[in-house]
Amino acid sequence: IPVEPFDLVIFGGTGDLARRKILPGLFRRYCSGQMPSDARIIGAARTDMDDAGFRDMVAAAIREFGGGRSCDDGTLDGFLERVGYVAVDAKGEGGWKELASRMRDEVPVRAFYFSVGPSLFGDLAERLHSFGLASEQSRIVVEKPFGHDLETAKALNATLAKHFDEEQIYRIDHYLGKETVQNLMAVRFGNMLFEPLWNAQYVDHIQITVAETVGVGGRGGYYDKSGAMRDMVQNHLMQLLCLIAMEPPARFEPNAVRDEKLKVIRALDPVLPHHIVRGQYAKQGDEPDYRTDVENPRSSTESFVAMKCHVSNWRWANTPFYIRTGKKLRARASEIAVVFKDAPHSIFGEEAGRHSNVLSIRLQPNEGMTLGVTIKEPGPGGMRLMDVPLDMSFAEEFGPEAEEVPDAYERLIMDVIRGNQTLFMRGDEVEAAWAWTDPIIEGWQKRGDFPKPYDVGSAGPEDSLMLMHRDGRKWREIK
Ligand code: BG6
Repeated sequence: IPVEPFDLVIFGGTGDLARRKILPGLFRRYCSGQMPSDARIIGAARTDMDDAGFRDMVAAAIREFGGGRSCDDGTLDGFLERVGYVAVDAKGEGGWKELASRMRDEVPVRAFYFSVGPSLFGDLAERLHSFGLASEQSRIVVEKPFGHDLETAKALNATLAKHFDEEQIYRIDHYLGKETVQNLMAVRFGNMLFEPLWNAQYVDHIQITVAETVGVGGRGGYYDKSGAMRDMVQNHLMQLLCLIAMEPPARFEPNAVRDEKLKVIRALDPVLPHHIVRGQYAKQGDEPDYRTDVENPRSSTESFVAMKCHVSNWRWANTPFYIRTGKKLRARASEIAVVFKDAPHSIFGEEAGRHSNVLSIRLQPNEGMTLGVTIKEPGPGGMRLMDVPLDMSFAEEFGPEAEEVPDAYERLIMDVIRGNQTLFMRGDEVEAAWAWTDPIIEGWQKRGDFPKPYDVGSAGPEDSLMLMHRDGRKWREIK
């Protein structure tokens, strides 16, 4: 279904995110027929360039990062006709009048994507108003990192609030745009089967793993100041935890969903220092270590975190949520596993064996779900129990169409145009998340804590395995 006609300005339009994600994403939506014929996309950045130069850059970006969808040159030309460029000085006067002259009054949706560092948010917001580009209907999209800690996040929120209402601000966490992450809500709230068991009485614990094989790439400068805690846990992992732990919202509507997520964050206990393991990948063979990658030989930043968290409320009292994420691990594998308690009594005797049910939701790759069910081992050997998976894979279930599933950015940008904030973070949510992570990071700094080394291609430091082991539990394999 096509969205309404729009003018979308991408500040930072020549940057990495725009080239890798935003522009190819918009192109794929165009190919799917979702973009109306009078949509306009305007790149804005410091670089001096004309429309034709920008279109060449966009075409090259789509060829390189467009992925999956085949579009002939005619289609690409059609898309490029909707694309233009204005050189703009975010901190000065240059280019703003021209940008204003490109905006069309009759178009229902006007959106501004701040694909720039947070230090420019205030300048952009202010100039959008002083040059008359923004109205009460305009929307702005901002990227993470949304602040570095609670104080900076509050300052950013305050800066944006000077010029825009909360209903106009779309804070992106691209994990919320992932198909399988949204599926989490469908599984929980669309089935009668799981929800009655989704609590401390029946769930033994929950594991959330976001494992990556990539290192810090060319982003060492940013990453070394952030670490896994700020880069992944404060946003992506906390969002996953919220979706797993939250109460059913009354409706799938922005504030109903975000109110429930906020309650989860506020119910999180402070994490005890011995419930956290930090790691940093070490040199192995030809593979450089983290410190070489970030060009900081004394870095004490973590590229891995594992921890045990508690959501202190009626539903989850004493049910641990173990979460971990890291770079240069064994496999790229993101999974949420809900591990149910053992049956209270085995009528077959302990010798038959016991298996707890595990609902595993694979976020990426090989998206799908598996429910482990206990059955009788076939054969005449008496009653011996075994665990078998009831397996659903997106690719098998939906065939080639599954490959056409929109990437997180495509979906989220279309939601901005539709004016749907459900999958975007509200200001208070982001602040609550920082309020929980800040003391953890401050604790490390006060104690002069150093991360534990771990091998490239492993499952993280030994201590992370011990974190589970001490509780008589085991991480699920990263594979
Ligand atoms: C980003 C982080 O937000 O998410 C990166 O800054 C990380 O460090 C990336 O690699 C992971 O996203 P995805 O979609 O590849 O799982």
